[in-house]
Amino acid sequence: MMLSVENLKVKYGNIQALHGISFHVDQGEVVTLIGANGAGKSTTLMSIARLTPPEAPRVTEGDISFQGQSLLKTQAHDVVANLKIALCPEGRHIFGNLTVMENLQLATYSRKPGENLEQEYQQIFNLFPRLHERRHQRSESLSGGEQQMLAVSRALMTGCKFLMLDEPSMGLAPLLMYDMFRALKRLNQNGMTILLVEQNARLALQFAHRAYVLDTGEIRISGPCSELMDHPEIKKAYLGG
Ligand SMILES: Nc1ncnc2c1ncn2[C@@H]1O[C@H](COP(=O)(O)OP(=O)(O)OP(=O)(O)O)[C@@H](O)[C@H]1O
Ligand SMILES: [Mg+2]
Repeated sequence: MMLSVENLKVKYGNIQALHGISFHVDQGEVVTLIGANGAGKSTTLMSIARLTPPEAPRVTEGDISFQGQSLLKTQAHDVVANLKIALCPEGRHIFGNLTVMENLQLATYSRKPGENLEQEYQQIFNLFPRLHERRHQRSESLSGGEQQMLAVSRALMTGCKFLMLDEPSMGLAPLLMYDMFRALKRLNQNGMTILLVEQNARLALQFAHRAYVLDTGEIRISGPCSELMDHPEIKKAYLGG
């Protein structure tokens, strides 16, 4: 088991966002968390990334462990630099006044000297050729889809082995969305473990191995995606009948 979340309860001030959720991700898997607006998906990812107060979520009970070690006392920068967990956040948060290359370079601050980053830039540009064409362009001039590719690439340049993605399909036209998921599939085939948050349940269930359905801070349904696609409740609530 790579990541294990046990009875996790999280609050923002007095608002209970997660009511004790448990789930796990094995090495090499793609696991998706699906659910409606406000279900607690982003809160779950931010809690794992250890993005802590003042305004971020506070864990009040339960545990998050990664490769057998509790994350609750780990700082956000150690999560990235030592444990090799990266979060591609909801809403991208790229630096618009920096170029594509500069955004990618920023993500390498935690890398050890002597690591061969050239090869990794190459891999990213193979994955997203559009970014290569636009590598010297200011990021704010990219299309929404290209910015999303940049946000994913920036997470990859941390050298992560566990990638968390918060709604990577958001705002993408269908063709770019398929490009994005094709790229993510290739990453997984090359060994990347992925925890994917998606509102597009159909897409997520097609892409992932297993899924958990989050509903107002609780996990209601879970299982292999192939089974959940035929689950009557999921069909009704998340797949349009
Ligand atoms: N900074 C915050 N302060 C107070 N409450 C918050 C904050 N962020 C989120 N919440 C609340 O926590 C709950 C879970 O929010 P969260 O953002 O995790 O949902 P989500 O599943 O990611 O939703 P969406 O699909 O809209 O992104 C919601 O009720 C939300 O209002
Ligand atoms: Mg969210």
